[in-house]
Amino acid sequence: MALTFPLHRNPAPATDDDVARVLADPGFGDHFTDHMAVATWTKDGGWGADEIRPYGPFQIDPASAVLHYAQEIFEGLKAYRHADGSIHLFRPEANARRFQASAARMMLPQLPVEDFVRAVTELVGVDARWVPGAEGERSLYLRPFMFASEVFLGVRAAQTVTFSVIASPSGPYFTGGVKPVDIWVTDTWARAGVGGTGSAKCGGNYAASLIAQYEGYEHGCSQVLFIEAADKDRVEELGGMNVFLVTSDGRLVTPALTGTILEGITRDSILTVAGELGLVTEERRVTPDELFGGIADGTTVEAFSCGTAAVVTPIGAFKSGAGEWRLPGNGSPTTMAIRDAILDIQYGRVPDTHGWLRRVV
Ligand code: PLP
Ligand code: COI
Repeated sequence: MALTFPLHRNPAPATDDDVARVLADPGFGDHFTDHMAVATWTKDGGWGADEIRPYGPFQIDPASAVLHYAQEIFEGLKAYRHADGSIHLFRPEANARRFQASAARMMLPQLPVEDFVRAVTELVGVDARWVPGAEGERSLYLRPFMFASEVFLGVRAAQTVTFSVIASPSGPYFTGGVKPVDIWVTDTWARAGVGGTGSAKCGGNYAASLIAQYEGYEHGCSQVLFIEAADKDRVEELGGMNVFLVTSDGRLVTPALTGTILEGITRDSILTVAGELGLVTEERRVTPDELFGGIADGTTVEAFSCGTAAVVTPIGAFKSGAGEWRLPGNGSPTTMAIRDAILDIQYGRVPDTHGWLRRVV
């Protein structure tokens, strides 16, 4: 039976002044709304105990399986406020389907797409006053997640699982406006391998990326680009974003989906709008030699990272132990055109010809 997430209203919500203060300078992932969606699954009873309840801590038994074996997945999507005050989700069914794919990989139960979308929709509806306006590319970042809450230390697919959605008013992931970020290219540390969990959105992938991320910070870089683990002959993705290259002859190139990278919804949306902007798109293998050589000989003129949190962010340079490859930095016109095309759809500044928006309020 479909979940309805009945509301148990927070008796002590934030004041309007508190909300206004947060929305004026939200940062990323620092502040949370008055409510959260929760449901539980048991092997015998299926999904139930669904509700929207006051935001607050879970009671976690120390023997909960997730704390030991990391059986956990998550999603990230945003609610956007349009100029007329209405609030819209961007492609939530795509997140719901990816959540199902991640669940299958991590032996977690399938949450029906309609239940995922209902949870997100109900939460945004009740916490609508927390959705910022478009100024500064602010939005309400939504974080659905699911974890093994069974109290048991045997290694098995958990028989009790918790699903939740929390919401965080947010600005862009990279602070300081749309300025190019430098990317550290690691071939020391791998994030994922063939048959591993690279295409699942599970917390462990992000834990595994941290050591490389910190190596990148030491070299003045904001994110890390991972190379395929075994043969080191394929560029994959960043720790929390997909990557695109723009060539001097108007092609938009991105690594193919090989099962080891996350199938980004922003990536997919960009491939769709790029065609409409007159760009030829290529999803294929990109070798590290092509990446570095293309910048050096001028055939690669722009590069950018993309994702829900990052939106579309120009890349200034790639750096590795072997050197530094700096892009021309000519204002990244193609990157900015793609960025505007995506944001214009999300904020309702152009007609939604692809049917990507779901109106909530
Ligand atoms: N790759 C990784 C590892 C990510 O964490 C994300 C962010 O969700 C993406 C790519 C981009 O995915 P999406 O565009 O669906 O947010
Ligand atoms: C997202 O873009 O939603 C992510 O999950 C990426 C993470 C780095 C915040």
